[in-house]
Amino acid sequence: MHARAVAVTTAALLGATVLSPTSEVRAAAAVERPLVVAHRGACAYAPENTLPAVDKAAGMGFSWMENDVQRTKDGELVVLHDDSLRRTTDVEKVFPGRAPWKVKDFTAAEIARLDAGSWFSPAYAGTRVPTLDQYMRRIEHNHEKLLLEIKNPELYPGIEQQTLKVLGRDGWLDHRHLAGRLIVQSFSADSVRTVHRLAPAVTTAFLGRPATADLKRYAGFTDMINPSYGTIRADYVSAVHKVTGPHGKRLKVLTWTVDDAAHARTVAGYRVDGIISDRPDVVRAALKDS
Ligand code: G3P
Ligand code: CA
Repeated sequence: MHARAVAVTTAALLGATVLSPTSEVRAAAAVERPLVVAHRGACAYAPENTLPAVDKAAGMGFSWMENDVQRTKDGELVVLHDDSLRRTTDVEKVFPGRAPWKVKDFTAAEIARLDAGSWFSPAYAGTRVPTLDQYMRRIEHNHEKLLLEIKNPELYPGIEQQTLKVLGRDGWLDHRHLAGRLIVQSFSADSVRTVHRLAPAVTTAFLGRPATADLKRYAGFTDMINPSYGTIRADYVSAVHKVTGPHGKRLKVLTWTVDDAAHARTVAGYRVDGIISDRPDVVRAALKDS
């Protein structure tokens, strides 16, 4: 089948329709105050990429959550940043002979036994690594929105289609969610391109800073360019804004990871559309004062 026909068929199966980038991003841009995204949940205040982290962010009044998705040995999607379980769980203690403790080498049942909270604070002892399904249910329950990162896609062939299936099964590819509650991003341009091909209605973002000369090519498959804040200046943001994305709107910029007031004000001055932060409360306060 022709690639375009495959994309249309898959999008239809997923219940997708073509929509522009999220209304909240547009609204934030209209008042020239960047959207603030809670990085891995409010991860300065609760263990990253866990259900308590998104609960914490919701309690602080934030709606947009960023997370990282990877895959277990037996094919379950889980929410975790590193490709190893070592830093954010007690895997070394529970499975001492299994170095280097890669996510892809453990089953979902094994990962479900791990404590993903004690490393952060005893107050979070017993917190688990959530499956993507569990995570999506909590995000929905909290009325939150999701900036979902497909992490290390080169390790997990087919993870784009699998992620879209979970999102579709949990109701996240309907008109209401697509219109303003979901962005899928990756450091891999191939992965972002694949998401756009499979589900053209999904708002996508490329993590990185392509050369200005390459922006038009990226605009074939991504709605946003999300660079590290240290790699940009106002002229780069302006160059991105001049390019029209796959949904007929100007490309947006969400920058990361900004955790202090001075840098928050600096990047707001560059006219970014969003700021991704471990300390979203600090960024919010800085933007109010500016
Ligand atoms: O969303 C931006 C940010 O999450 C990218 O870096 O390493 O924290 O996943 P990282
Ligand atoms: Ca991330």
